[in-house]
Amino acid sequence: MNAPTADPEPAAHYDRVTDGWRLLFGDSLHYGVFDQGDEPLAVATQALTDRMIAAAAFEPGLRVLDIGCGTGDPACHLVRTQDVDVLGITTSRVGVDRASARAAADGLADRATFEVRDGTANELPDESFDRVWALESSHLMPARDALIAESARVLRPGGRLVLCDLIRRRDIPFKEVRDRRVDFATLREAFGEARMDPLDSYLALAEAQGLTIEVRTDLTEATLPTFDRWRANIAEHRDELVELLGADGLDAFERSTHILEGFWHDGTLGYALFAASKPA
Ligand SMILES: C[S@@+](CC[C@H](N)C(=O)[O-])C[C@H]1O[C@@H](n2cnc3c(N)ncnc32)[C@H](O)[C@@H]1O
Repeated sequence: MNAPTADPEPAAHYDRVTDGWRLLFGDSLHYGVFDQGDEPLAVATQALTDRMIAAAAFEPGLRVLDIGCGTGDPACHLVRTQDVDVLGITTSRVGVDRASARAAADGLADRATFEVRDGTANELPDESFDRVWALESSHLMPARDALIAESARVLRPGGRLVLCDLIRRRDIPFKEVRDRRVDFATLREAFGEARMDPLDSYLALAEAQGLTIEVRTDLTEATLPTFDRWRANIAEHRDELVELLGADGLDAFERSTHILEGFWHDGTLGYALFAASKPA
């Protein structure tokens, strides 16, 4: 999924889709973890955030960097429930505006702040955060090694990186990429430029930065019902979504749910979470 696209910048893509995606995904712009299978999407997206929280091992008063903060829902949740301070960063100006408004409305503006910054070159001071949190944003960053190196750099000794995202679970031969180029183009149109890597490649990058892997969890099966829930939201909000995403954009998104679901079923793609600590 590396070929050029009409909309190559994640920032531009997210500026364009953020408001529409809230109707598809809910307040949190990420997949759900379905522990029961029939629970509402909002319960399942919260369950994914809760898996991240468990892996992060928060303590009150810690300072957290949220890389790829979306519209601020996870960051505000962390402030409220974990008693931590969060700087959320994203390359999307619309995301920062929505997240800042959200924190202000929730009375959390002093503890949840948001800035336009790139997770692969964040320009934040060394050793200035206790936790780095990257919830489903890494697949949008081509320089995956720079993301992990920057995360390790800004962590204080004893700090922890926690990351979850879509992963690639097998090699995709060139012939298959070529034969399925229409499908890959549809995914790019719906989700922007992205690259899914194996979980092991993330773990190797973390270890190369001197981090110790503490948690690794495959969430492929638990995230599978997400696609069905997104399609239900399309059916419920179709007219509004056509306004926000355009008929072609919505069509590409709907087709993408079937393509991704097929990739989940045939073992091509999936979802995983890991946490890695910096030596004290
Ligand atoms: C799927 S959304 C996840 C949002 C949020 N973590 C959540 O769970 O609600 C991906 C986020 O990554 C951000 N993003 C993409 N590329 C980025 C980069 N290079 N640096 C920082 N954020 C980036 C997008 O703007 C968006 O906010």
